[in-house]
Amino acid sequence: MAIKRAWWKEAVGYQIYPASFMDTNNDGIGDLNGIRSKLDYLKDLGIGFIWITPIYESPNVDNGYDISDYQKILRTFGTMEEFDLLLEEAHDHGIRVIMDLVINHTSNQHPWFIESRSSVKDDYRDYYIWADGTIDGPPNDWVSIFGGSAWEYDETTNQYYLHVFAKEQPDLNWENPRVKRDLFSMVDWWLDKGIDGFRVDAISHIKKAPLETSSTNDPFDSFKNVPGIETHLEELRDIFKKRDILTVGEANGVSAAEAPKWVGETEGYFNMLFEFDHISLWNKEEQETLDVIHFKKALTAWQDALADGKGWNALYMENHDIPRSVSSFGSEETVFWQASAKALALTFLLLQGTPFIYQGQEIGMTNMPFASIDDIDAVDTKNFYHEMIHAGVEPSKAMNVIRRTARDNSRTPMQWTAEEYAGFSKRKPWMVINPNKQEINVLDELTDPNSVLNFYKAVIQLRNQNEALIYGSYKLYLPDHPQLFVYGRRLGNERFVVIVNLSKEFASADLPENVQIEEWDLQLCNLNNHTIHQHTIFAPYEARVYKHK
Ligand code: NOJ
Repeated sequence: MAIKRAWWKEAVGYQIYPASFMDTNNDGIGDLNGIRSKLDYLKDLGIGFIWITPIYESPNVDNGYDISDYQKILRTFGTMEEFDLLLEEAHDHGIRVIMDLVINHTSNQHPWFIESRSSVKDDYRDYYIWADGTIDGPPNDWVSIFGGSAWEYDETTNQYYLHVFAKEQPDLNWENPRVKRDLFSMVDWWLDKGIDGFRVDAISHIKKAPLETSSTNDPFDSFKNVPGIETHLEELRDIFKKRDILTVGEANGVSAAEAPKWVGETEGYFNMLFEFDHISLWNKEEQETLDVIHFKKALTAWQDALADGKGWNALYMENHDIPRSVSSFGSEETVFWQASAKALALTFLLLQGTPFIYQGQEIGMTNMPFASIDDIDAVDTKNFYHEMIHAGVEPSKAMNVIRRTARDNSRTPMQWTAEEYAGFSKRKPWMVINPNKQEINVLDELTDPNSVLNFYKAVIQLRNQNEALIYGSYKLYLPDHPQLFVYGRRLGNERFVVIVNLSKEFASADLPENVQIEEWDLQLCNLNNHTIHQHTIFAPYEARVYKHK
């Protein structure tokens, strides 16, 4: 099959959470000039595009995902002129810029909502979803993803409004054509500016079931990938399709089987999706170790569903909503930390799809040992903690759960150096700094040839230089092996095989017949003492990639 090339298939992405990336005006919060100051670093890493999480005007109840003006930059991050400069300099570095598009909801401080809530007769009333209460209170039993009822009572008009996330994030009413018209013209405005695409937030929630629908076993069913969503997505796609941009939809509730419809080359709504299947595997509070078989199965389902040109994958193992991958999938223990961070890098970066690296992942940053709930900023985590306390859970036990699950684990400031404020700022940052900045930081890792950072660079370079690792097919070997993740990539005669031990124990396996070491050249390995005759025994977290001679 002929290769269908695209820049967004070939580039490696890097997600920036601006508040925690780099602070240049020393107010303790990262800023746009901070991102600009690190473009050389990103280019050197091999990055082709950055995705910047929301930088728009916002009261920051959900750290920017509650937007009060889509066309203004939040003052703490900088100005529109500084944004334009960042865009220009990023392009000069050969780095494209993807913005976050949050169009399922706005802030309750957005002028549309302020108008909407003012009267049932207001012109903007139908921009949001309003309903009368019932004898039991809210219009129905739907619950918010951030906890509690999905409805908030508003005294002014004696009605409730719907919010899938925090009560300060009212859901927009996509059934109203004026809402879509206004959103789409804002999308065009940003694209006209020259940005290179969007990560589209919470997009599988824009369609709601009829309000009479009761919650099922899945409490979010009534607003997750609800039939009829296609119509809205097709309209959005028609806006996107006019340009050569990258679009990646956050698609909670979309299965691998449905993926081709969402990302198919001609009719798809997006170029790729952030799926949730492999992530939910680490969400369980009790689960301490990774279930490797299930993990492979979840990822392979997507790889296979989108094979043979049926679509394209977005590859990620970290973002600003989930704990650090080394802590969840690998190991923080000193003996395993470095090998496991590299093992995860090799596993993810060479799958079929576009990799997204989350800031700090490339140096192996770990979860934060939060001392108390006062160190937590994320609204959902605070709600969850108070729900646990209310239900009688002991505070120390509740904190254990929080430490494992909080999304703030990935929002601690980027560790640039071992200095007091990690080289992120000259004053105390808005969020606690991980004390392990002494051992894990960019400055030290840049000069250590064996660092996680240098391994990331090497893997990215390998991908950038070999089309088979970009456009090649994917094949899973040894699906039932409980420790090893073994897969092949192939494009014509060019063949690679990736072998990773995702456990703390030695693993052995007879490799598939066509992976006989005499015929394969080792490209990269994460252990220094690798010897080729040990090819069927793998040390804890050992990871290798071979190319066929
Ligand atoms: C998903 C975003 O990634 C998350 O940070 C945010 O809280 C919700 N969507 C609501 O916008």
